[in-house]
Formats: sequence, structure tokens, C-alpha cells
Amino acid sequence: MDIAPPGLCKVFYSDNGSTAVEIAVKMAFQYQQHQGHTGKTKFISFTNAYHGDTVGAMSVGGIDIYHDVYSPLLFPTIKAPAPYCYRCPMETSDSSSCGKLCLKELERLMADHAHELAALVIEPECRAPVDDHPAGRFCPGGTRAVQQI
Ligand SMILES: Cc1ncc(COP(=O)(O)O)c(C=O)c1O
Repeated sequence: MDIAPPGLCKVFYSDNGSTAVEIAVKMAFQYQQHQGHTGKTKFISFTNAYHGDTVGAMSVGGIDIYHDVYSPLLFPTIKAPAPYCYRCPMETSDSSSCGKLCLKELERLMADHAHELAALVIEPECRAPVDDHPAGRFCPGGTRAVQQI
């Protein structure tokens, strides 16, 4: 608990990354149901995201080459553009002056879908199977901005 961010005070163990994501998705969904927010059933996830190979983890993933073939099995999510500056999803060539367009789009999506959102799924790190361009890597200050949204 010493290294957990403020406000996070419980731990639920899982034995691998994919099932950790399954558990997180189910917990978020169940939380909303128990709060009486029965319409909050949807998730925002990112393009280019990788969360593992179980069905729920693939549903909140966004890498076509891995996930497309399974699309009839997956539940739909609202896709936010990942800040993958090498190939800017917002079609801006200068990432240093992009004005955090990905964050703005995320903010818009969250505002538009607030009434039906169970959670935002975001990975702070991603090592495999893709190279290192995680959806969680917004520009400096971006993680805090996502938390504030
Ligand atoms: C961000 C992220 N989430 C989930 C997983 C899936 O973890 P596991 O292979 O332990 O199921 C990975 C694996 O690379 C990952 O990078």
C-alpha cells in the first residue's frame, strides 16, 4: 500500500495481466450496478490498446491485427484516440504543439457518454506484444489531466 496512489487502499490479487483486466472491468461494472447506476454499462478504451488475450481484455483492446478476427465475440467499447505521436491519430505532425488534442477528445467523449459510462480503461505501461507506445503515455502532466477528467 505504501506505493499506491492516494485513495487506493485495497488490493485484489490476480495471477496474470489479462485476468487482472477482466476483474477490473467486472468490478467497475458491478460497482455501478450496486450504486443503482444500472445504465452505466459502457467502457471507454483506447485505440492501440493492449490489455491481454481473454475476451474482456480483448474487448477493451484496440489493435486490429490481434483483435479484429474476434470482433463478433467482443463487447463494444467507446474508443478514444491513443496519444501515439509517431502516427498522430489527430493528424497533427508537430506533437509538441498539438495542444493535447487526444486529451481534449477524451474529455469530450467522457462528457458525452458520462451517463452511460462504467469506467475508463487505460494502461500506464505496455511492453508486449506491441512496442512501447502505451495509451497511458500522454504528454507531461497528461496522467494527472486524465485523472481530473
Ligand atoms: C498493458 C498490459 N495489460 C495486460 C497484459 C496481459 O498480461 P498477461 O500476458 O499476463 O495476461 C499485458 C501483456 O503484455 C500488457 O502489456
